[in-house]
Amino acid sequence: MCGIIGALCDHNVQDELLGALRRMEYRGYDSAGICVLDGGSFQQAKAAGKLSNLQRELASHPLSGRIGIGHTRWATHGEPTIINAHPHISANVALVHNGIIENHHQLRVQLVAQGYCFVSQTDTEVLPHLLEEKIQQRELLDAWREMLSEIEGAYAIAAIIRSLPGSLWFARKGSPLLLGRGAHGVYVASDALALAGLADEVMYIDDHHWGRLTLEGVELYDLSGNPVELEWDPLPVTAHDAEKDGFPHYMLKEIHEQPAVLRRILRQYVKGDGEIVFEQASFLHEKPLPQRIVMIACGTSYHAALTARYWLERYLKIPVEVDIASEYRYRDPVIGQHTLLVALSQSGETADTLEVLRMFKRHTPGNDALALCNVPSSSLAREADGLIELFAGPEIGVASTKAYMAQLAVLALLTLFMARRAGAMPEERVAEHLAALERAATDMEALLADTAAVRQAAALFADVRGALYLGRGPCYPMALEGALKLKEISYLHAEGYAAGEMKHGPIALIDHLIPVVVIAPKQYHLEKVISNLHEVQARGARVILIVDLPEAGIATDAACVLRVPEGDYFSTPLLVCIPLQLLAYEVACMLGTDVDQPRNLAKSVTVE
Ligand code: F6R
Repeated sequence: MCGIIGALCDHNVQDELLGALRRMEYRGYDSAGICVLDGGSFQQAKAAGKLSNLQRELASHPLSGRIGIGHTRWATHGEPTIINAHPHISANVALVHNGIIENHHQLRVQLVAQGYCFVSQTDTEVLPHLLEEKIQQRELLDAWREMLSEIEGAYAIAAIIRSLPGSLWFARKGSPLLLGRGAHGVYVASDALALAGLADEVMYIDDHHWGRLTLEGVELYDLSGNPVELEWDPLPVTAHDAEKDGFPHYMLKEIHEQPAVLRRILRQYVKGDGEIVFEQASFLHEKPLPQRIVMIACGTSYHAALTARYWLERYLKIPVEVDIASEYRYRDPVIGQHTLLVALSQSGETADTLEVLRMFKRHTPGNDALALCNVPSSSLAREADGLIELFAGPEIGVASTKAYMAQLAVLALLTLFMARRAGAMPEERVAEHLAALERAATDMEALLADTAAVRQAAALFADVRGALYLGRGPCYPMALEGALKLKEISYLHAEGYAAGEMKHGPIALIDHLIPVVVIAPKQYHLEKVISNLHEVQARGARVILIVDLPEAGIATDAACVLRVPEGDYFSTPLLVCIPLQLLAYEVACMLGTDVDQPRNLAKSVTVE
């Protein structure tokens, strides 16, 4: 969602602010703005829409100053207009914010009564006025602390103060924020990628911490005003991470990275003798196996969990519950003892998933919580009892691809690990499954090298009304994921269904304008899926069949066949990812949408 950058440098900061905002574009936004402080006055530029609009504005009215803040806004309160774009300014304070100030209405009424004039519809605008009010009456540090104690909701804040051109101010509660320092300046940002090429070291700010950053150092406090220890780490990303490497889109680059990601995961977790080791989740090795597993996530990560439920229940013979984080947190779930929570998130900052983790730890402190996450510095990764890192590398395309495959891969390893510990799978079988996962990386490369059939399938989506995706067993959630991928980047309506459920309603949709993607690898109830295929074909549907058998093995007259190499029970879904992702990508390119930054979407959903 919103991107925040603040910079204090030994030179003009405008270009650095703009460059940082560009590296955060992938988070999703609909307006942007920059404010710098020079000679005691604020200068600002804002634009609705893409950063190129802000860049044009800056080209005609450049800003100059060595300290400034910038923001990409994903609208929550008020439309994405120039007026509502951040920074928001009071007489002495300019401020950018990510999150939602829940008591903004009461604060606004109070501040209006005190004579403050509001120009925007945003919740954020109360913050500079509230701080302004406080600094009229008290020392700056006290003013900040008092402002933070009066606001409710979630925030990451960066601010500059007119009378103090040498300090960047910041605060965090519930939305990610980090500080950076480099050869030419110091920075505050919502995303490490923003600091690529600027900072060498970063400091992750914890919830309820706030402070100020100068070229000389950092003052960091907790909510009571006590100083907090400082901990700098090396910047975990490079400028190269933000490049497309010759691909037209980040999404395509990331789809192509998947064989390397899978190899990296296997290298990381499978030792030479075939032992599976999760070093950052030692409790998995040391404590008794759980009697129940609860898996929580949102969106694509939720789909990965749904596939893993089939794997875990089959081998561990314990109940595995999977739920959407935003539902789970409000439905008074019965958690019980001896339950393992697995929270899945690419970003590790998804508000609902994080809140479930916190709720779980509050309610059943005896249970363990495991994070499956791609960002080891994220809140989820840091707050869980153990981490299985996804090692997918920064994912910049808004539509998740390589992180999804990485989640499936680590979940396959987790299942094999637990099944081995439970004595539920003989050693030879574990070794065979590990070998199949190794092979899948090479098979993925072959799939990526020949995409002619996918392009042919994509052509079937010209002038359609929508699409249906069908699968069974572990490939049913893959049907959900295929449909999600298509709708988010092509804006075509698509539904994923359990193939056996199709006759209970969705079959009414079928005609030649609704292509049906049938996922039918031989591992998962092939004959039954094929009879569902015949049922839709009999009603005029054009079928795109994803299969791992030679066509002759199954008599169909599908409009298009996307063949994947034969995998096993665990590796097959990893292979099926490739045609599903490429199909969505090719359809979106054919329809001319913004593949990497589809409308209305944010990469990391940091508000509920
Ligand atoms: C879809 C997509 C989203 C995310 C969801 C959860 O392509 O990317 O559905 O999967 O917002 O995000 P994380 O995994 O970061 O918690």
